[in-house]
Amino acid sequence: MTTTLDTEWPALARRLADDLEQSGKLSDPAWRAAVCAVPRHELVPYYFQQNSTGAWTRSDTTTGEGRREWLERIYSNSVLITALRQDVTPPRVLSSSTQPGLMTRMLEALDVHDGQTVLEIGTGTGYNAALLAHRLGSGNVYSVDVEPDLIDTARERLRRLGFTPALVAGDGAAGLPARAPFDRIIATCAVPSVPWTWVEQVPVGGAVLTDLKIAHNAGSLVRLTRTTLSRAEGRFDPTYAAFMGLRPQPGEPDRDPTWADRDATSVERHVTTVDPQTPWNSMIVWFLAAFDFGPDISIGFTGSADTGTGRPPDVSVTTPDGSWARISMDTTDSGDHEVVQGGPRRLWQIIETAHDLWNRLDRPGWDRFGLTVTPSEQTVWLDHPDSQLRWPVTQ
Ligand SMILES: C[S@@+](CC[C@H](N)C(=O)[O-])C[C@H]1O[C@@H](n2cnc3c(N)ncnc32)[C@H](O)[C@@H]1O
Repeated sequence: MTTTLDTEWPALARRLADDLEQSGKLSDPAWRAAVCAVPRHELVPYYFQQNSTGAWTRSDTTTGEGRREWLERIYSNSVLITALRQDVTPPRVLSSSTQPGLMTRMLEALDVHDGQTVLEIGTGTGYNAALLAHRLGSGNVYSVDVEPDLIDTARERLRRLGFTPALVAGDGAAGLPARAPFDRIIATCAVPSVPWTWVEQVPVGGAVLTDLKIAHNAGSLVRLTRTTLSRAEGRFDPTYAAFMGLRPQPGEPDRDPTWADRDATSVERHVTTVDPQTPWNSMIVWFLAAFDFGPDISIGFTGSADTGTGRPPDVSVTTPDGSWARISMDTTDSGDHEVVQGGPRRLWQIIETAHDLWNRLDRPGWDRFGLTVTPSEQTVWLDHPDSQLRWPVTQ
C-alpha cells in the first residue's frame, strides 16, 4: 500500500542533497544519487531529543501533529540520537545517525571507485551502509557495530529497502579479519589511536578514514593511505568533526573521564589573556595541549549559573593526578580572566603554552597536520612527516 510518506520523502531527500551541495558538503553525482535514493526515515524511524532539564523524549510522530517537523528533521543536515541506554542515570547515548553532510564529506574523502570494497566501523542505523551499498553494491560493503541489537535492527531495515551489506556484531577495533582485505575502511566513531589491525586490513594503496581523538574533543578526521606494509600516513581533514568514541563492550561508556579530586596543595592565582572557552573555540590549541595533558582530562563549565549572566561563571579542567584549574568567564578591567590552579601540574599554563605555539606557527588549520602510523608508534606532525614539530600519540 502506498502511503503519503512514500510520495513525500523523495522530494525531501532531493532537497537535502541540494542543501548539502550548496553548503559545499556534497559534489560527487554518485553520492548525490545515493542521498536522493536512500529513505533516511526508514532507517531512522524515531530519534531522541533532550530538553533543557536534561530529560529525553522520543520523537516518532508518523501521524498527526508534529509529523511534518519529524519528517523535516530527518531530511535535514542534523545528527539524530537514535539509541539510548535508559537503565542508567543519566541515560547514555549509544548511537546516533551522523549529520548527512558530515557523512557525504567523509564518503567523498574516502575516494572510492567502482568494484572496491569498504568496511565501515560503527553501523548504527545503517544509513551510511545504505549510501555505501547504493554506490558500490551491497556485496562490496561490510559494517561492524559493537551493539548486537543495532546490527539486527539495521540488517532488517536495510533488507526491506533491498540492501544486503554484510553486517557483523563485534568490537570494530579488530576490524573484520575474516573478510579482509578491504580497499577502504571508514570509522564513524572516534579512536584514541588508530588500531594497526585496520591498516593491516587494507592493501598498500588502500585507505583508512577515522576520527582521531587523543582526549575529549582533541583531534579530528584523518585519512591515512597505506604507503608500505609497515606504514600508513596522511593528513587531517580541513574541517573539525567529532564522533562518539569506540566502546570496548555493548552499553559501556567509551571514555568517561570524571572530575578528579582536586589536590589542595600548591594553589596559585594569576590572570590569563587566553579565552577560557579555548577548548571549544580553538580546537587545535586544545589538541596541542592534549599531548601534554594526557587522555583523561575533564573539562566543563562549573559554578552556579545563577550569576545574572545566564551562564556558569567558570570553566574548569582536572586531570587524574589531582591537577586542576578554574578560569573565570568574567573579564577584569584590563580584559584578562582570573585563573586559580593547584595540584602537581599547572593545567592552564599548558593551554597557554599551546596557544603561544599555535600563534608562532601562524595559526595552522587542521590540514597542516598529519599522522604517521606504524605497528609500533603513531606520530602527529606539522606540514610534513619529517618535520621538527612532531607529537607522539599514546597507544
Ligand atoms: C555515530 S554512530 C554511527 C552512525 C552510523 N554510521 C549511521 O549511519 O547511522 C557510532 C556507532 O559506533 C558504534 N560503536 C561504538 N563502539 C564500537 C566498537 N567498538 N565497534 C563497532 N562499533 C562501535 C556505536 O554503537 C554507534 O552505533
